[in-house]
Amino acid sequence: MSGRRARPSSGRGAAQGAGGTPATGRSARAVALEALDRIDPGGAYANLVLPELLARTGLSDRDRRFATELVYGTTRMRRACDHLVDRFLISDVEPGVRNLLRLGAYQLHHLAMAPHAAVGETVEVAPRKVRGLVNAVLRRVATSPVDWPDDATRLSYPDWVVERLRSDLGEADALAALEIMDEAPPVTERADGYVQDLASQWVAESVGAQPGERVLDLCAAPGGKALVLAGAGARVVAADRRAGRLGLVRSNAERFGQHLDLVAADASAPPLAAGCADRVLVDAPCSGLGTLRRRPDARWRVDVAAIDRLAALQTSMVDAAVELLRPGGTLVYSVCTLTDAESLGVDEHLAAARPDLEALPPPGEPWVPHGRGARLLPQAAGTDGMCLLRLRRT
Ligand SMILES: C[S@@+](CC[C@H](N)C(=O)[O-])C[C@H]1O[C@@H](n2cnc3c(N)ncnc32)[C@H](O)[C@@H]1O
Repeated sequence: MSGRRARPSSGRGAAQGAGGTPATGRSARAVALEALDRIDPGGAYANLVLPELLARTGLSDRDRRFATELVYGTTRMRRACDHLVDRFLISDVEPGVRNLLRLGAYQLHHLAMAPHAAVGETVEVAPRKVRGLVNAVLRRVATSPVDWPDDATRLSYPDWVVERLRSDLGEADALAALEIMDEAPPVTERADGYVQDLASQWVAESVGAQPGERVLDLCAAPGGKALVLAGAGARVVAADRRAGRLGLVRSNAERFGQHLDLVAADASAPPLAAGCADRVLVDAPCSGLGTLRRRPDARWRVDVAAIDRLAALQTSMVDAAVELLRPGGTLVYSVCTLTDAESLGVDEHLAAARPDLEALPPPGEPWVPHGRGARLLPQAAGTDGMCLLRLRRT
């Protein structure tokens, strides 16, 4: 079967106690099942609900990792798991049963776990009245080869995501990006201890903040990049539209010992003086299609209509940001997505509307030139996917 992934060390082994007796794995599956029910159909965010549930359990670190793999993996691969089980269902099942089947199919197909463990222990956490059904369907999943109808089902994305990336990146790059975003991301920690993906670190560095400069970060929360700018010795104004998220910037600034001036403001109409900034960073809200591995449920939440709405918002943000630059000042625009509308589209708007902006050299490999800026594919260096544009006001 294609599309299998290697079983992680937190997989089947975590389900075995001393002497091979199923022990804590059962609890990990029970916690995972509750989380899956809260995410779909409950509507909870995976990255919020799981830590909350785990905090209430006495699971070992190993079993927490196993529960996390089950919840995040089953959520990412939801569509693929549905295909695996739907072949053996004669009528639809209620959401709780569907989650049990998805959980079992994920262990069998994507974690390549031994059927007796994956099926037996998933059946163990099922309500008694559906155990027969869950057992029968999962046994068929375990023994039947799979014929995927299309890449969107196999890689488990909505059709429109696959179509959009195919048209914007080309077939080979799109499929490679979609495949790597089915994997769990690595955890990368900066020298100051802040956990941040390498691609975001490169974006923060590309601002080139210098000691004493006034640097504006117009979409700053939770403050990861603003801390880098302040760490370079710049006087940083960190703005964000959402006051609640600005609280995260404040606590991160306190935790990492950096001074940031905080402003609650809409980046499309910032209450700041024209020409006041040496550098402005617009790390804009976006469709997030470069970070789908990081937020397992995000692919099921984003909708295609959001892209044009976000592109319009991003355009109004960069328009406002340019006004804040002193002559010679630089604008860095970044988004953690891969769509042309949110990168080339914004660049093309600026090229037409602002002849007083000149492009600065884009970063080199693993970034690739993209319009006047650069794009980083998630498969290029195992990071999040991003687009970046650097311009100087002449
Ligand atoms: C990609 S995140 C920024 C990440 C941040 N730069 C960092 O490195 O930690 C985008 C941010 O834009 C904010 N945002 C959304 N709409 C906004 C608007 N109209 N004006 C300012 N900020 C906005 C969101 O609240 C979110 O915090």
